[in-house]
Amino acid sequence: MSKISIIGAGSIGATTAFALLQKGVATEIILNDINQEKALGEVLDLIHGSSLCKPCKISLGTLEDTANSDIIIITAGLAQKPGETRLDLVDKNYNIFKSFIPTLAKLSPNSILLVVSNPVDILTYMTYKLSGFPKNRVIGSGTVLDTARLRSLLGKYFEIDGRNVEGYVLGEHGDSEFVAWSELSIGNIPVKSFSEQFNIEWDKETENVIATDVKNAAYEVINRKGATAFSVALALVRIVEAFLGDEKSILTVSTLLEDYLGVSNAYLSVPTIVGKNGIEKVLDISLSDEEKVKFINSANLMKEYIDSIDNK
Ligand SMILES: NC(=O)c1ccc[n+]([C@@H]2O[C@H](COP(=O)([O-])OP(=O)(O)OC[C@H]3O[C@@H](n4cnc5c(N)ncnc54)[C@H](O)[C@@H]3O)[C@@H](O)[C@H]2O)c1
Repeated sequence: MSKISIIGAGSIGATTAFALLQKGVATEIILNDINQEKALGEVLDLIHGSSLCKPCKISLGTLEDTANSDIIIITAGLAQKPGETRLDLVDKNYNIFKSFIPTLAKLSPNSILLVVSNPVDILTYMTYKLSGFPKNRVIGSGTVLDTARLRSLLGKYFEIDGRNVEGYVLGEHGDSEFVAWSELSIGNIPVKSFSEQFNIEWDKETENVIATDVKNAAYEVINRKGATAFSVALALVRIVEAFLGDEKSILTVSTLLEDYLGVSNAYLSVPTIVGKNGIEKVLDISLSDEEKVKFINSANLMKEYIDSIDNK
């Protein structure tokens, strides 16, 4: 039995519900949204196809209906408007999150809170503060999506299965994220040796092009279809599966760091082991000096927002 509640039934919430239904990982899915009509439309659409999938009860729900969820996925929130600073956005989202996080936490005291809304690292920290949950049960989707994009793009570049790429995008889910190239391998072979073995061009410039493509992936999609949805939903299903199946999978979710490469009290993405307790372990990773600087830079960017949340 697994009950998953999704707060926010927009592009990501609805597509995630669809992906969860198709994968058969939940026995109950609740969709909650302030736009009840739109959410009901999504629920009905899902219900109509549900007899083609493993049994799963799908409903439109109030916050109370989310009680005793195993996982609550939070995709609600406001996007930045022209002329608005990110701090303004943090203030607005603080009020929105305050309207549901304490209630959700009280109704599902043993759940995992999985935050997706952007800026995800900051809103996950906010959720951690508002919920009073231990840090292992408040997770941001972080750079799981960006890491998937990296592996997919490298898979395409080298014409291999992207699942055989062992490498990560770390730091903020946003402009300061970076690829940890120093540790990246394909089938356990360092990427440079792999490229030499198959006589495929590989240099610093190729690295930069791929890292930039990963970073700009969302913009490329949003500019054409308005929002990203499929890839995000698949990344969320991956995290949910790791938790529900107690898989101990290594995923770059956003986690509260304590004394990690000199960073404390900030949510950022690093490789972590995800299982039934949420974040079970945070892995140490050896980064080059240049990558360490990028990581600290991501953390420094969080500081102003964290201070503004801590002072509320
Ligand atoms: N972390 C990631 O990897 C990632 C990737 C893409 C998008 N996102 C973020 O996910 C969020 C959702 O994106 P989207 O494209 O689905 O947006 P969307 O606008 O389509 O959906 C957001 C939904 O939230 C609902 N909502 C607003 N306030 C609410 C409240 N108080 N209670 C319940 N529902 C509420 C809205 O009615 C809307 O249906 C955005 O913040 C986006 O930036 C994150």
